[in-house]
Amino acid sequence: MTQDELKQAVARAAIEHVPIGCIVGVGTGSTANYFIDELGKIKHKIDGAVASSDASAQRLKKLGIEVLELNNVSDLPVYVDGADEITRHLSMIKGGGGALTREKIVAAVARKFICIADQSKLVDVLGRFPLPIEVIPMARSYVARELVKLGGQPALRVGFTTDNGNVILDVHNLQIMKPLELESTLNQITGVVASGLFARRGADVLLLGADKGVQTLTR
Ligand code: 5RP
Repeated sequence: MTQDELKQAVARAAIEHVPIGCIVGVGTGSTANYFIDELGKIKHKIDGAVASSDASAQRLKKLGIEVLELNNVSDLPVYVDGADEITRHLSMIKGGGGALTREKIVAAVARKFICIADQSKLVDVLGRFPLPIEVIPMARSYVARELVKLGGQPALRVGFTTDNGNVILDVHNLQIMKPLELESTLNQITGVVASGLFARRGADVLLLGADKGVQTLTR
């Protein structure tokens, strides 16, 4: 199976986890796009969606799915999103698409986070994928210096602005042995809006697309 076929398979499997008559949290990226397409097929069975990016909101609306403001939603039973890397403990690196902050917010509200990913995303140790950090533009150089002190090599994502009007630093060369600790250290750097390290609020379920079928891993 190709990587796209694996992404499609996990997107289809995720639909089984969507309760009838609920509002669905929807992530960002190519795997999430497959999920949005599947959601379109059952749109009459859901009450709407909350999107983690403007791009996902647009795709949902095109399919005729109502997109609600997170502030107007008190209960979000499920959030479905992809990942750039994920461990067997369901800690993740996210933000390859630059939507990490809104993804983190929607994930925080959701009762259940279902990660959908093809087998290439499963790793023993996080960090080969450069860790995205959303930063307030005027703090970019300061935050970069702090990241160097932590052993990383930050690179500005050139020409990219987040949906929140900020910049992204992609941090290379981190071997993330203690994701929880690193996440709280990063959160304490002034100027950091959010990091793409999802350890404190990791996934609850991983639907992993592999050649032998979709595997389910839980926390
Ligand atoms: C976007 C994300 C995505 O979930 C992540 O980049 C995975 O994307 P894809 O499904 O295209 O591989 O965090 O900010």
